[in-house]
Amino acid sequence: MTDKQQNAGRSGRDAFTSSLGMLAATLGSAVGLGNIWKFPSMTGSNGGASFLFVYLACTVVVGLPIMISEIMLGRKVKANAITTLRKLSPKGQPWGIVGVSGVVAAFLILCFYTEVAGWVFAYIFKGLSGSVLTTDPKVASAAFASLISDPMQAIGWQWFVIVFVSIIITFGISKGIEKVTMRLMPILFLLLLVICARSLTLPGAEKGLEFLFTPDFSKITGSVILMAMGLAFFKLSIGMGTMMTYGSYFRDSQNIPLTAGRVVLADLVISLLAGIAIFPAVFAYGFDVSAGPSLLFITIPAVFASMPMGQFFAVLFFVLAAVASTGAMLSLFEVPVAYLCEARQMSRKAATMTTALLVMLLGAPAALSSSMTKDVKIFGLTFFDLFDFLSSNLCMPAGGLLICIFTGWVFGKDKFKAELTNHGLIKNEAIIDSLFFLIKYVSPLLVAVVMLNMLKVF
Ligand code: PHE
Repeated sequence: MTDKQQNAGRSGRDAFTSSLGMLAATLGSAVGLGNIWKFPSMTGSNGGASFLFVYLACTVVVGLPIMISEIMLGRKVKANAITTLRKLSPKGQPWGIVGVSGVVAAFLILCFYTEVAGWVFAYIFKGLSGSVLTTDPKVASAAFASLISDPMQAIGWQWFVIVFVSIIITFGISKGIEKVTMRLMPILFLLLLVICARSLTLPGAEKGLEFLFTPDFSKITGSVILMAMGLAFFKLSIGMGTMMTYGSYFRDSQNIPLTAGRVVLADLVISLLAGIAIFPAVFAYGFDVSAGPSLLFITIPAVFASMPMGQFFAVLFFVLAAVASTGAMLSLFEVPVAYLCEARQMSRKAATMTTALLVMLLGAPAALSSSMTKDVKIFGLTFFDLFDFLSSNLCMPAGGLLICIFTGWVFGKDKFKAELTNHGLIKNEAIIDSLFFLIKYVSPLLVAVVMLNMLKVF
């Protein structure tokens, strides 16, 4: 009997069918606009290499152990995030609430993520028609403003993306998510390499590399550490049930620490390649590296328009970003969809439609943040920024902290070891011991300190 049949036989659930499929889907979730939009713009505006250094530390010490724990918990119960935590909770302890916060975080992220993905898809078409390609940053900036401040376009592109992702989701895990991400990941990698080659061969490219790889440690402040940690959570899709949900579709024979290690490494390589694709070109044409989120939609088109065959490379770049965002959105959708199917007994189609409608409804205020809702500020933030801040800097770190505490102090070392050695079949005890030490003491302490610092407790 194959592993898939075993899994299906045990629970009647759809599941990933191959080791490569599990890797592709998990990597597809991690790689996304975080690599191509957030990572370069945050690195650019927070001091380059020193930010990269803190981000790396957060990834290894906090990100990897949490990712492994989440996948492990999901695989153990083979259910959505809420049910997984409820089933594993000792009597009377409300750990299911962490799963609930995960579903809320998934919606918060989807609300603004589908909007940015909408701009990316729009830029493929606008790039093809040439309408956003100009070497004048002022004109580029006006072109972007006209897209985001037009309510019809902003909502229209967001809905387009939501419908597109929903269609793939209705095909399920093995025929939808696994099949699509296995095709998309190699395409993404290839496109990225082509754009890197173009960027690195521009005169003056070394300055961009220097910026990305020479650290200035004086730039590391409390808020930089909080941002780097938030980015690590966002990048690795952890702290909100995505990895738990995907883990529930993992085969029992899969080596979880190895798969997670590969995903984290590949995700890092893709972020660095995105940096290598962007910064040398930005420096070569003398644009501002600290442009923030608009780097992707204003600076990049202007940079591409300045180079030979610019239109071709610009369209390629936005296709790349669209591919990356698709894998991530699939994994975000799957969190509520799995819950609605299993705990609310909905059909997959009904669960997908319910999720899509809710994202359209709740996402509209974020999509309209540059037009109709631009003057509505909550804690000084527009809906768009609020959803981003609440998910990356609050829900995900808090969820991650609780998952560390749950795994280290409630689930316990014996079960942790049994699950991650596949009940003694994999000889990786030394790695598991260090991972458990990290998840029980180091990761929660670090996340707690950074969060208390953010809440201005000290
Ligand atoms: N990791 C994705 C990215 O970097 C975003 C994401 C966050 C996806 C949380 C799923 C869950 O773009």
